[in-house]
Amino acid sequence: MAKSHQLLVSVPSTSSAPIWDIKCSFHSLIVVLIVSLVAGVVYLTGESGKLLFEDNSNSNSGRGKENEESLTYSSSNNKCNLFSGKWIFDNESYPLYKEQDCKFMSDQLACQKFGREDLNYQNWRWQPHQCDIPRFNATTLLEKLRNKRLVFVGDSLNRGQWVSMVCLIDTAVHDSSLKSMHYRYNTSLIIFKVKDYNATIEFYWEPLLVESNSDDPVHHRLPERIVRANSIEKHGSRWTNADFIVFNTYLWWRRPHIKVLWGSFEKSDGIYKEVKMLRSYEMALKAWADWLEIHVNRTKAQLFFMSMSPVHERAEEWGKAKGENCYSEKEIIQEEGYQGNGSDPKMMKIVESTMDELKHRGLNVHLLNITQLSEYRKEGHPSIYRKQWDSLTEEQIANPSSYADCIHWCLPGVPDVWNELLYAYIFNNY
Ligand SMILES: *[C@@H]1O[C@H](CO)[C@@H](O)[C@H](O)[C@H]1NC(C)=O
Ligand SMILES: *[C@@H]1O[C@H](CO)[C@@H](O)[C@H](O)[C@H]1NC(C)=O
Ligand SMILES: *[C@@H]1O[C@H](CO)[C@@H](O)[C@H](O)[C@H]1NC(C)=O
Ligand SMILES: *[C@@H]1O[C@H](CO)[C@@H](O)[C@H](O)[C@H]1NC(C)=O
Ligand SMILES: *[C@@H]1O[C@H](CO)[C@@H](O)[C@H](O)[C@H]1NC(C)=O
Ligand SMILES: *[C@@H]1O[C@H](CO)[C@@H](O)[C@H](O)[C@H]1NC(C)=O
Ligand SMILES: *[C@@H]1O[C@H](CO)[C@@H](O)[C@H](O)[C@H]1NC(C)=O
Repeated sequence: MAKSHQLLVSVPSTSSAPIWDIKCSFHSLIVVLIVSLVAGVVYLTGESGKLLFEDNSNSNSGRGKENEESLTYSSSNNKCNLFSGKWIFDNESYPLYKEQDCKFMSDQLACQKFGREDLNYQNWRWQPHQCDIPRFNATTLLEKLRNKRLVFVGDSLNRGQWVSMVCLIDTAVHDSSLKSMHYRYNTSLIIFKVKDYNATIEFYWEPLLVESNSDDPVHHRLPERIVRANSIEKHGSRWTNADFIVFNTYLWWRRPHIKVLWGSFEKSDGIYKEVKMLRSYEMALKAWADWLEIHVNRTKAQLFFMSMSPVHERAEEWGKAKGENCYSEKEIIQEEGYQGNGSDPKMMKIVESTMDELKHRGLNVHLLNITQLSEYRKEGHPSIYRKQWDSLTEEQIANPSSYADCIHWCLPGVPDVWNELLYAYIFNNY
């Protein structure tokens, strides 16, 4: 069925929202959180606009004072390009955690739970050509995050990476600390906290980085995309003081035109204009960069930007029949340098030049170039193995690829590797 397929590659039709807003409603994540916390919930309060879930598993823990030096490896490695490499099947060391052990797993990403039987997607290790990536050690990371905030800012892909990070930490420090998950419904912020360390790992919903009509973490399925391309302070004030900030923004822009608003959403005297997507993307990233330049404490904060996460919606791109997609894929793509049409090099260029300019102005944002390595992983998407938020029609059931999710990633899986790379960057100045 061509319909959902086309919407995903942003054909001009805007009469219905693309699949990633329909199926990944934030609400569902909250449902997941509630369901998965059955055992650990101690109290639940609506006080001061926040829902609080407490997991009181075990409070007295060894703090594991460990030394960070053991992690820093020789500076000669610092020039190594971590993003050029290949996937190696490694079912000894991977997955880094078990899906069913992660209390905060999202039903959107829990492919095994939703019936996927070929589980090899969990067993791939990323091997850079010129060096090794350091082994992810949750204790070491928590030590680094003591009294600090690590915030993921962006869309549902970024949220998937946040879930991965929470799972990497959650499953590794089972017997320590009080862990908690808070949801601030009117600030789009979810906070995972490890109390022993006073460390938080947070996700802030901000799919286009600048203010937009898709900012509501639950109700963002809107037929039309409108951004205030110059306006970011409403969001920025939520994460500016964080110590580590991981940004992304890509898929929500994939339309030929975006409607830009000069004025505010609240008042009726705003001016709206259709602007070519690339132009509006550039404006938004400029607003973002200007905000960072002025507001971020550059001696304190480490900043990262995740490059485009590729989609695998057109099997013809990897030599299969037209009309197919990632559904039923079990193998990775072996062709070195493979690129599908699911990622847009022009948008990558804009990201790069924005970072370069920021660097000239004295602010370093590390671009984590995960596009190429993720391109190889056409089998890593949930496909039909995830919770379906809307019930399926008979037509869909008869044709599973019509409702396959070829955008997000199963966990454990590809985003764990993104986090291993993030980890390498946090501990080394690449
Ligand atoms: C969130 O909601 C609470 C309770 O309604 C309110 O006190 C608070 O000011 C709100 N915060 C924001 C940022 O809107
Ligand atoms: C993680 O680091 C801690 C402290 O440095 C160390 O004791 C522990 O053995 C490490 N864990 C793994 C799995 O390497
Ligand atoms: C991302 O990595 C790929 C593979 O190493 C490379 O071809 C591409 O130029 C990189 N892009 C950026 C912006 O660094
Ligand atoms: C790893 O994969 C190999 C080859 O598929 C298989 O023979 C072996 O049993 C697997 N080991 C584990 C621990 O799953
Ligand atoms: C806990 O961490 C926050 C940052 O997330 C910091 O502002 C606060 O001072 C820390 N509390 C203590 C007691 O160190
Ligand atoms: C920036 O961060 C450093 C290190 O945490 C701190 O000492 C300094 O006071 C901060 N500067 C401002 C203006 O907040
Ligand atoms: C996808 O890429 C191929 C070549 O790589 C090109 O021929 C084709 O036109 C592209 N399709 C779209 C829809 O851009």
